[in-house]
Order: sequence, then structure tokens, then C-alpha cells
Amino acid sequence: MKGVLLHGGFGTRLRPLTHTGPKQLIKVAGKPVSQWCLEDLRDAGIKKVAVILGELAPERVIETYGDGSALGIEITYVYQGYPYGLAHAVYITKDFVRDEPFVVYLGDNILVEGIGSYVKRFEESDADAMILLTEVEDPTKFGVAQFDERGRLVKLVEKPRVPPSNYALVGVYMFRPPTIFRAIEKLKPSWRGELEITDAIQKLIDWGYRVDYAIVRGWWKDTGTPDDILEANRLLLDHKIRGAVIRGSVSNGARVEGRVVVDEGAKLLEGCIVRGPAYIGKNTVIGPRTYVGPYTSIGDNCTLEDVEIENSVIMDNVLIEGGIRIFDSIIGSSTIIRRGSARPQGLRMILGENTKVEL
Ligand code: DAU
Repeated sequence: MKGVLLHGGFGTRLRPLTHTGPKQLIKVAGKPVSQWCLEDLRDAGIKKVAVILGELAPERVIETYGDGSALGIEITYVYQGYPYGLAHAVYITKDFVRDEPFVVYLGDNILVEGIGSYVKRFEESDADAMILLTEVEDPTKFGVAQFDERGRLVKLVEKPRVPPSNYALVGVYMFRPPTIFRAIEKLKPSWRGELEITDAIQKLIDWGYRVDYAIVRGWWKDTGTPDDILEANRLLLDHKIRGAVIRGSVSNGARVEGRVVVDEGAKLLEGCIVRGPAYIGKNTVIGPRTYVGPYTSIGDNCTLEDVEIENSVIMDNVLIEGGIRIFDSIIGSSTIIRRGSARPQGLRMILGENTKVEL
């Protein structure tokens, strides 16, 4: 089996975090979202992966993953540019895929229990395609499945106003070439102007091919919005951090409580408390009078001093200091948050486009 990871798109709902790079590179629980996907593909036995690049800083994706060897995979980059749709992104991997079955993984999806069992089931079956479904409260935001009275999959609809069921398409699909490519060749752009993979799979159903489905057990998340990022961070910290892992240094007067990862070169200085589940990135310094509370991930090369922070995601190279309390927040790379020495008459801010500040 080969793998295809979708790393394009605009990430509009995550602006301003996505002004400078693709949403799939936002780090949750210490790793970019798409790294969780690549590791999931690798752990399912897939070693050759095509990564689809979009217009938004594709060079950052290449810098992050290189040839894939650090993750134990072999990456081929395929440039899509403008996001013409998931089916378009799949189609341009035709020469990479050739005649091998393959898994398509949307690079903003996280499946906490992995895809290994589904990949195995597909490999052992003679199905032409396999989709994963999960029950959701609001199916209107997803592709949705319709079944007949015998539980057979009869229809797939993309973001329906009136959903035929509560079963949403999870962003992992398995195909056997060449039928899927033939189906994509017949597609017309949808109402949102995209070539939809949902419509391509519908074609396979209409043409009488066997489309198998599995219901995902365990937790799945599509990380399209800031709230999704915070939730993904919480759930990954909960599921992936099993105990305290101290690769950096913890001073005598610092307190580490529960499941905390202190990564290489990180320093917890005297007078700080870190309560897990939490992740402290490489070379980050947690200074005195600082409390890092549960469900917080802090990136690499950050400095926090005299700060209380909880249920938040902080990217790399961030400085926060001076008696500040932060919760439920996402802070982009190289941000500085600092209280001025005099009591402020007002706030002095340099904020990027689409920034959100709640005071
Ligand atoms: O997350 C599951 C949902 O993903 C499914 O239920 C839907 O059926 C499916 O259409 C898709 O819906 P979204 O509207 O959430 O897709 P989104 O535009 O967010 O794109 C998903 C990923 O694929 C994201 O990582 C960006 C990337 N992408 C997207 C497009 C449109 C590309 O690489 N190229 C593209 O052309």
C-alpha cells in the first residue's frame, strides 16, 4: 500500500495562524498535526507517501519533513497549488500511485486509535474502495453517508442541508487504482467549486463497484477551527502521554505533577509548577512564578516567566512574561506577550490580520 497525505488548502478558518504556513503544521501535543498523520500511516505499514503541497508556504512543509527518513518513511512531494478539491489532489498522484492500492489521509485529521486495523481489513478484502465513518452531532459540516434498510451504503452527500444520517466521512479513504482515477475524470466541480472526493466515491457506488465502510471506534477530530485545535491538543495529550518523560532538566525547586513531557534542552526553573497532561518543547524555559496547567502544549524555544497558563497551545519562539494569566488560547510563533512596567492606561498592541483578543 502507498499513502497520500493532503497538505494543501487555504486554512481560512484558522487565520491568522495560517497566514504564514499551512494549518497542518500547527503543533498539537508537541508535533505538527500532519506529523501525527504521517506516523499513523507509517505505523500502519505504509512507507511510501506522497505529500500534496498547496500554495501556502509549501517550502515549510519540505523543510519540516525532508525526504521523510527521520520518520522512517519515503516522501515524494506533489505540488497542487490552488485547492481545486480533494479529488483533484488525489488525481495528481496518479503517477506516484501507479497500480498499487493506496490510503488518502487528510492532513488535518487526527484518529487517536490509528488506522492500522482498517488498512489491514482493506488489504485483505477485495473491495474497490473503503471509507471510514463516525457518528457526529452536526453532520452538515461533513460528507454524510446514507444506508438502505439492510445497512448497505447507497449514497454519499457532501455537507448536506438535510443529512440522511449522522454518519460523517472521516478524512481517511482507501482505493484500488485505476477505478478511482476514472471516476475523478468524470467529475464536475461542486457548488463550492471543488472536485469532491465524495462525488468520486458516489460514482464508484453508481457504477456497481464495491465500496466498503468501517465505523471508527475511538476518537476522531478534523482540526479546521481554533476550538478543534484546542480539543485535539487535549485529547492527544490525554491519549499519548502515558507518564512523566523528562528529557530536559528540572531544578530542585520546580514541581512537575502528573503526565508531563519536558523535551530535550527544556529547563524548568525553581519556583515553577507544571501540572500534566502537558508538553514543554525543546529548549523552552519555564521560569519562576509560573504555573503551566493541564492540557497545555508549549512549543520549542519559548520563555515563560511569571505566567499562569492552562488549556492552551503555544507555538515556537514565544515569550510571555510579567504577571499574566492565559487560558483557552492559541498563540502563534514568535509572539511576545509582556506586561509593561507602569500600570497601563491602555493596551499597546501590534496584532496581525484576523487576530482575536478577548479582554
Ligand atoms: O474532515 C473530514 C471531511 O473532510 C469530510 O467529512 C468531507 O467529506 C471532506 O470533503 C472534507 O471536508 P472539509 O471541508 O473539511 O475539507 P477541507 O477543505 O478542510 O480539506 C481537507 C484537507 O485537505 C485539508 O488538510 C486541506 C487539504 N486540501 C483541501 C483541498 C480542497 C488539499 O490538500 N487540497 C485541496 O484541494
